[in-house]
Amino acid sequence: MVNIKTIGILTSGGDSPGMNAAIRAVVRTSIYYGREIYGIRNGFRGLLEDNIEIMNSQSVSNIIHTGGTILKTARCDEFKTEEGRKKAYDNLKKHGIDALVVIGGDGSFAGAELFCNEFQVPVVGIPATIDNDIRGTDYTIGYDTALNTVVQAVDKIRDTASAHNRLFFIEVMGRQSGFLALNGGLATGAEAILVPEIEDDYDKLMEYLGDETLKHKKSSMVLVAEGDQAGGAFSISQKVKEKFPHYSVRVTILGHLQRGGSPSAIDRINAGRLGVSAVEALLAGERDIMVGIRNSKIIYNSFALSKHDLRKLDSKMLDMINMLAV
Ligand code: F6P
Repeated sequence: MVNIKTIGILTSGGDSPGMNAAIRAVVRTSIYYGREIYGIRNGFRGLLEDNIEIMNSQSVSNIIHTGGTILKTARCDEFKTEEGRKKAYDNLKKHGIDALVVIGGDGSFAGAELFCNEFQVPVVGIPATIDNDIRGTDYTIGYDTALNTVVQAVDKIRDTASAHNRLFFIEVMGRQSGFLALNGGLATGAEAILVPEIEDDYDKLMEYLGDETLKHKKSSMVLVAEGDQAGGAFSISQKVKEKFPHYSVRVTILGHLQRGGSPSAIDRINAGRLGVSAVEALLAGERDIMVGIRNSKIIYNSFALSKHDLRKLDSKMLDMINMLAV
């Protein structure tokens, strides 16, 4: 094992349910292996501002079931500059921190990779975002909980939509990717979805809405990823109202509701697996990598791969939405 005596941990980017379970796993695994562990508050900004304190086993008591992140999170423009990263490095050295675990998304990993290369600090990333869009891993912490939140919300909206024979546009998160819209749509029997990855999905929706089929439906749900190329749920619904005035159209934006809540069992367990593996990887001499899960197994990818591109949607699953909406 490499001689890492002290590890630092931070959460960065948008929070996601299960981050606390991951922090707990990293802290306790470090202690288990006889290492010191420091918590860095507010993401990379905490490194720059020296907002760093030692943690112990009790620091992470009773957090496995909570949403958000006890370490807090932030986006930090200063860390994008060389000068900012130098300040961060000086603070790490001040506390004798030899290595870092970064819990976050692809943006956080890009910063971590730069830092790792510039200052030769071993860094391991743990993927956490409700968007589930990080390349090289089937799974990101928080996605399962957020998906279940979407499903519960859409089921409820379906009740009222059926009572009034309405067409609902429900906006879900996903600035650049449509995993929540696609799988939320499949799980709730949505009639259509709109996702950033598909260029002509709006035109197809218009065709579908003009079709006779919908007349036989008691209700129709269209899940719109916030980053869809045709715009958000409000603007799309306006256009639909103008073109098809006979529909009774309503809109719901689920928003940050999707980011909170107690993590699902899957998110807690996977966060634990990723946290343990991240520390073990550091102690085994790994650096500049993200730990992920592929085909239910722990895998390790270079940061370069995870930031290269976003994870792609499964085209068969996209087809299924249309096939099952006949
Ligand atoms: O990265 C996850 C995500 O939930 C995106 O889908 C969404 O666009 C974004 O975060 C919003 O984050 P914030 O409001 O914190 O800027």
